[in-house]
Amino acid sequence: KLDVMQKGKEGDPVEFGDTCNVLRTNIEQIYGGYPSLDGCPLAEGEITDIGDGTMFIGLQRYQQNYNSPYKLCFGPKSFLVISDPVQAKHMLRDANSNYDKGVLAEILEPIMGKGLIPADPETWTVRRRQIVPAFHQAWLQHMVGLFGHCNGPLIDNLNKVAEKDGKCDMETFFCSVALDIIGLSVFNFEFGSVTNESPVIRAVYSALVEAEHRSMTPAPYWDLPFANQLVPRLRKFNSDLKLLNDVLDDLINRAKNTRQVGDIEELEKRNYAEVDDPSMLRFLVDMRGADIDNKQLRDDLMTMLIAGHETTAAVLTWALFELTKHPEEMAKVREEIDRVVGDRVPTYEDMEKLEYTRLVIAETLRMYPEPPLLIRRCRTEDNLPEGGGREATVIRGMDIFMGIYTMHRDERFWPEPNKFDPMRFTRRYTNPDIKGWDGFDPKKWEGKLYPNEIAADFAYLPFGGGARKCVGDQFAIMEAIVTLTMVLRRFDFDFDLSRHDGKVDVNDHPQHLDHPVGMRTGATIHTRKGLHMIVKKREI
Ligand code: HEM
Repeated sequence: KLDVMQKGKEGDPVEFGDTCNVLRTNIEQIYGGYPSLDGCPLAEGEITDIGDGTMFIGLQRYQQNYNSPYKLCFGPKSFLVISDPVQAKHMLRDANSNYDKGVLAEILEPIMGKGLIPADPETWTVRRRQIVPAFHQAWLQHMVGLFGHCNGPLIDNLNKVAEKDGKCDMETFFCSVALDIIGLSVFNFEFGSVTNESPVIRAVYSALVEAEHRSMTPAPYWDLPFANQLVPRLRKFNSDLKLLNDVLDDLINRAKNTRQVGDIEELEKRNYAEVDDPSMLRFLVDMRGADIDNKQLRDDLMTMLIAGHETTAAVLTWALFELTKHPEEMAKVREEIDRVVGDRVPTYEDMEKLEYTRLVIAETLRMYPEPPLLIRRCRTEDNLPEGGGREATVIRGMDIFMGIYTMHRDERFWPEPNKFDPMRFTRRYTNPDIKGWDGFDPKKWEGKLYPNEIAADFAYLPFGGGARKCVGDQFAIMEAIVTLTMVLRRFDFDFDLSRHDGKVDVNDHPQHLDHPVGMRTGATIHTRKGLHMIVKKREI
């Protein structure tokens, strides 16, 4: 059987023939009774196990039966699912060049083009080198002040709500503040979404909803001839996207017309307090040698807009959810905020001192990773190490899901995984049963902003790992710290039980689908019905 397998030339993009080979091996395994060519079992189950908007929970159940890796088949389409730190380390770091973004790139292409997230390895190499310096220290330092500034309208709004009946959906509020932050920081555009509604804001949400919808739709109907003209949903999406692209083009043209070229070192030393436009766009345009065409810049900006907005909002939503469920943890965070920041706007120097707040954010990211799954496609046949699962061959053309949620909630790597325990990142943990896994070592993240993937030897991947790790990790953590600090200092929260079926039981874990808040997913983990809270002004 192996003779018919084409290995393809190393690094070549995956072609139709490769996809057929994957299909053929699966058919032989399922219907022909042939031994699996890749050494992976096929998960037997119902599409409903994973099709109700919480696919990552279905994958967690399969993992308990099949360990890592196993295969999932939906008709002709199959996915290899891995959820093991040793295998993840191999795929993301050691053999990263054997993989690309596959299905994800296809889904996101109409929205993000060749932006950094979906970019093919060749485009990615060039763009990543230019984008990473944009997140330099002086800029991040300035951004902390901008986060505080953008939280002003949120605080004003919450004050107004508290003076009335106190009812609010904090998930929506966090989304708005995160959008305002990303607009100003990345392309110096004032969305003002905490206080306003506008066609541009609606267009951003439409693009997000469409990206999520596509990621959960098995048949790409949008590729069918005339679909863009005939399907009303696609017509609406295309007109929203055009509006957004026009706004971005306008901003890009303005930045290019006022270009002040500088070397990276000069630009990194800018005194941002004296700069009119401190946005990332300005940096990318001004960088010497970076004569990027408008389309590429637009793809990059759109990628940042989408990648950096809902993710941070989701972390804030779930952090508030967990803290409200755990008053003792809330008390600890509050004590730290009152002691370190008080009524001030947090500064860059505060970030390091807000140690417990950082642990709360890290623990939230463990329990609610955004996105809960990473997606890859194998470009060159590869061998996966055993780790805590089984050795396997990844066939060229195979699509892969990396179950981050599963791994973050696996008790072999995280004792009492469903318990919200921010202090876990201060304790050493190992498991000799997992071959090649060094365990979690708190010493390895000393001096860092958060307990990263290195400290957990890839059992903790909130920002991915290896070459394609998130470029916005520090930005996001600081944004979450500033927002959480400013909100919790000033307000008390309780669940609005009238909107949550009368109860939000602390023991009722959201892993159960009937949980009153509940989880559903697209690119990030959302609540099912919003995070409805009663907000009161805090008496200090
Ligand atoms: C990549 C998570 C915030 C920009 C990633 C990846 C993850 C992630 C898991 C890796 C994806 C993969 O390997 O397939 C998060 C989370 C965030 C966050 C949890 C917030 C809490 C941000 C922000 C920005 C950003 C604020 C930008 C301002 C990006 C970009 C990539 C990326 C450009 C692609 C990197 C590459 O492929 O080289 N993010 N992210 N992210 N993220 Fe984030």
